Amino acid sequence: MNLFELVTAAPPDPILGLSEAFRNDPNPDKINLSVGVYQDESGKSPVLECVREAEKRLAATPGTKGYLPINGHPDYLRHTQALVFGEGNEMIETRCIASVHTPGGTGGLRVAGDFIRHCLGRRKVWVSNPTWANHQGIFKAADLDIDVYPYYDPETHGLNRDGMITVLEDIPENDVVLFHACCHNPTGVDPDADDWETIAKICKERRLLPVVDFAYQGFATGWVDDAVAIRAFSEYGMEFLVCSSFSKNFGLYQDRVGAMHVVAKNADEASRVLSQLKVLVRTNYSNPPAHGSAIVSTVLNDAALRQQWEEELKGMRVRINTVREQFVDELARAGVPGDFSFIRQQRGMFSFSGLSPEVVQQLRDKYSIYLVKSGRINVAGINSRNIGPLCSAIADCLG
Ligand code: LMR
Repeated sequence: MNLFELVTAAPPDPILGLSEAFRNDPNPDKINLSVGVYQDESGKSPVLECVREAEKRLAATPGTKGYLPINGHPDYLRHTQALVFGEGNEMIETRCIASVHTPGGTGGLRVAGDFIRHCLGRRKVWVSNPTWANHQGIFKAADLDIDVYPYYDPETHGLNRDGMITVLEDIPENDVVLFHACCHNPTGVDPDADDWETIAKICKERRLLPVVDFAYQGFATGWVDDAVAIRAFSEYGMEFLVCSSFSKNFGLYQDRVGAMHVVAKNADEASRVLSQLKVLVRTNYSNPPAHGSAIVSTVLNDAALRQQWEEELKGMRVRINTVREQFVDELARAGVPGDFSFIRQQRGMFSFSGLSPEVVQQLRDKYSIYLVKSGRINVAGINSRNIGPLCSAIADCLG
């Protein structure tokens, strides 16, 4: 018998597997609206100008390719803490936050899962229904059990507020609950400030441990406003975890630059937590990749580059919102049955279209249009050339 004979084939990844299928599709008119990567009007995923400038400066500076500290470069950690929790935040000043630079937000979620399992001895993580297709896989890989809480109401295309609150109030003490800070993936439906207040209060009362996935900071209304969930948990004096990422807001997808933050009650606990996080990182990937974090630090250390980053981030946000409007109008013009105006209210990169898995499959088979099976559309992938064919194809499949 061959050594690998018993290895069974795994299914393709529900999101990244689609990019692979898209690349292999010979249809010249194919449209990829699957993976959450920003595209500009020309269909390209641009390198931000501030990032190009930072890379020029880095290339011109004699540097080193030596290892970073296990938890990352102090400069980078300072910047990522300030963005997530707010400059001068008391929890930062009093050293109550243990932070590690992780390979992207996904790396941060996995370190969080390992920390929960190995250092807190907790077993169950509750995720929203629906949630990002990789959340369950990451936490299962960390040997955690998963359950779901209601989140989305397909009737109203909005938040199932009552359903969510009722289940949160019933979750057993000490369980872990995963939240999306903003731009909920895949629905684009976010709790408002009052909802976050209620959620934080319940988590505090029920002694739940929130894990906040903060992958889209700056894509909803701005990088400060988008931290509303972080502020709510902080104001309740809670212990919680945050996984943040620069993939989207700096466009540094392939550089894998994110962080995992543990907010503790005091500096002593945070320092012990950090020592354990370092063990988890060291035994997993040893220490983080440096390039992306050097770019982030270079941009945020320089007032002009920082200003440019904020403008470019705003540019991405504004374009996505404009495309939302155009998409709703074009669907109506193409005669697609139904009211799609809810797409205007959704936030972030995605539109949860309500298209069924059968229609998604039909769009792919007949038109080489790639969406995630849940009906999630990457709005940033729509442009003036493909919006017409896209909406006609949807009209055809729904007609
Ligand atoms: C997505 O949801 O498409 C992105 O977060 C990319 C990914 O890794 O799945």
